[in-house]
Amino acid sequence: MTEYNIAVIGGDGTGPEVIREAKKVLRAAEKHGISFNFTDLPYDGTRYIETGETLSDSEIEGLKNYDAMLLGAIGHPDIKPGILERDILLKMRFDLDQYINLRPVKLYPNVDTPLAYTTPDNIDYVVIRENTGGLYTGKGSCENKGAADEITTQVMEYSRKQVERCVRYAFETVRKRHSINTPWKGLSAEENEKGFIGKVTLCGKTNVLTYVFDLWQRVMDEVATEYPDIVNDYVHVDAVCIYMVESPARFDVIVTGNMFGDIITDLAAVTQGGMGVAGSGNINPEGVSMFEPIGGTAPAFTGLNQINPIAAISAAHMMLSHLGENKVAGIIEEAKISVIKKMDSMLAAKMGYSTTEIGDMVADLV
Ligand code: IPM
Ligand code: MG
Repeated sequence: MTEYNIAVIGGDGTGPEVIREAKKVLRAAEKHGISFNFTDLPYDGTRYIETGETLSDSEIEGLKNYDAMLLGAIGHPDIKPGILERDILLKMRFDLDQYINLRPVKLYPNVDTPLAYTTPDNIDYVVIRENTGGLYTGKGSCENKGAADEITTQVMEYSRKQVERCVRYAFETVRKRHSINTPWKGLSAEENEKGFIGKVTLCGKTNVLTYVFDLWQRVMDEVATEYPDIVNDYVHVDAVCIYMVESPARFDVIVTGNMFGDIITDLAAVTQGGMGVAGSGNINPEGVSMFEPIGGTAPAFTGLNQINPIAAISAAHMMLSHLGENKVAGIIEEAKISVIKKMDSMLAAKMGYSTTEIGDMVADLV
């Protein structure tokens, strides 16, 4: 029996509530020949208020000893925006070199989407968001603060290495999703004829960000030559927003930089029924990875047992696939889909069940 050591950071707001349900589902999965040793860690806003601590370098070192991490949400209404994000969440992503932010976008049957004319089989793609560079490095400047001639900068920085490992991961993701016998269904007849199996779309802004996205485009073209069975596509980020709403079926795997990836995945989450559905993985393929719901702390719902735990449960099954436990991950995914079919809505307080009941129902089916 394989035992996994999992670092659990419930975090702030509704984070601990949804993580409690994700853990419940993982415990239920222990009957399938795996087991979990959960360690709850207090790296959150409450500890910051009490002690002034965020996340130290030695705590980062400690995190490297786990097989994976599960995180609820970080953010506190009494703390100025930016502190916890930079010193806890982004510090984990950066210092643990979790360079891929994997965000699957899938509309499940029976889930309401604001896209009136779409159907579940039209929305099934993955966004690969670069997670350690771009505008998120915090590099920048502010001169003459407060004066009329104040000037600020925020630097979008990318190294070729960062871009290349991310783009390569996107092509490899197509290989994981499809094969020559089961190609992606969005390919044209001509592409099928030529033996393509899927598509990577680079989401950039080559018409304005002429240094950074020129690098991305060149790397994309180079890496694509190693994957002759995968269509290499490019769409500007503004047009990606149009297509996500108008014709999401044109996407298979989207690869993009950190900031665009942040923005388009909120849009994507809404098309799949809301933040309550969307899980994500912060992945270091060679190190420790962290799995979290995309949604935030939802302060208005804290403690009400009304928030949707499905995204946290999705994060848990993404964690299992990442650990190579594909069979158990599949069982959780199926259980989750059955429960989603019974729910009235994916929105907090409108689900027809409490947070706890949804966790119980998924756990019972696992
Ligand atoms: C996300 C969040 C974070 C981000 C915030 C909380 C810093 O929006 O995970 O998408 O911008 O990456
Ligand atoms: Mg975001």
